[in-house]
Amino acid sequence: MKYEGWPIYSEEQIRIIAAAADILSRLFGYLVPHLTPGISTAELDEIAEDFIRREGAEPAFKGYQPPFEEESYPYTLCVSINEEVVHGLPSPHRYLTSGQILTIDCGVRLEGFHADMAYTFAIGAVSPQAARLLQVTHEALWRGIAQAKAGAYTGDIGYAISEFVKSYNFAVSEQLTGHGVGEAMHMPPDVPNVGKPGKGVRLPENLVIAIEPMVHIGSRRITRGPDGWSVQTKDGSLAAHFEHTVVVRRGSPQVLTSFEPIKKALVHV
Ligand code: MF3
Ligand code: CO
Repeated sequence: MKYEGWPIYSEEQIRIIAAAADILSRLFGYLVPHLTPGISTAELDEIAEDFIRREGAEPAFKGYQPPFEEESYPYTLCVSINEEVVHGLPSPHRYLTSGQILTIDCGVRLEGFHADMAYTFAIGAVSPQAARLLQVTHEALWRGIAQAKAGAYTGDIGYAISEFVKSYNFAVSEQLTGHGVGEAMHMPPDVPNVGKPGKGVRLPENLVIAIEPMVHIGSRRITRGPDGWSVQTKDGSLAAHFEHTVVVRRGSPQVLTSFEPIKKALVHV
């Protein structure tokens, strides 16, 4: 009963998560042409919810009850701008402007199974430091993913992420972690963004996890934003966040979500 409650699935169940992940990945590509100065974050949320429902799936964040929170989450997307790390609330009064970095985080539920993904976009022209932050966080995600092999430890993932981030003198969030994902959006085990090789918990074959480094330019400390939901850097420095849903395999990890639709769409904007 070592892995009781963990999302370890049959190939058939993994195929459903992959289908949810495909909808989610295409959603991100679909959003790209809308990520222009002047659009409100509430409009983005509406576009995303419509897309997901048209695909016959459900927005998994909407109505989600996070542990230790009073209320359930009311939107399809988390939209976190600049110093916001996670859980930025869509608002009809908040508009994208050139120079911002914008993290979109979203979950999709299909036939009772979930996929989870996040990507940080540069809106218009951003500072060289912001551009570097996005590159480093994106690469840190892939360094972590490369460790997600059966028999490895969550500490191997966290170590790969944090060592890479530290080499650029950026800070990785210790309080916010990745997680198992499947029949619920957040399942055991936690997948920390820091760790030591061979420590943490051992990863069994066919475990489905979300790996999601959040990286800050300044201090690693975080604080709650004024809306009660958003989490921001305490020192106000920029934060980025990339996330994929991944299956632990004996050989190479299988990445179920994809940034390819984003890349294709970005070529045309
Ligand atoms: N951002 C979280 C994750 O990727 C999930 C969002 S929780 C919600 O794991 F409350 F915003 F729905
Ligand atoms: Co997640």
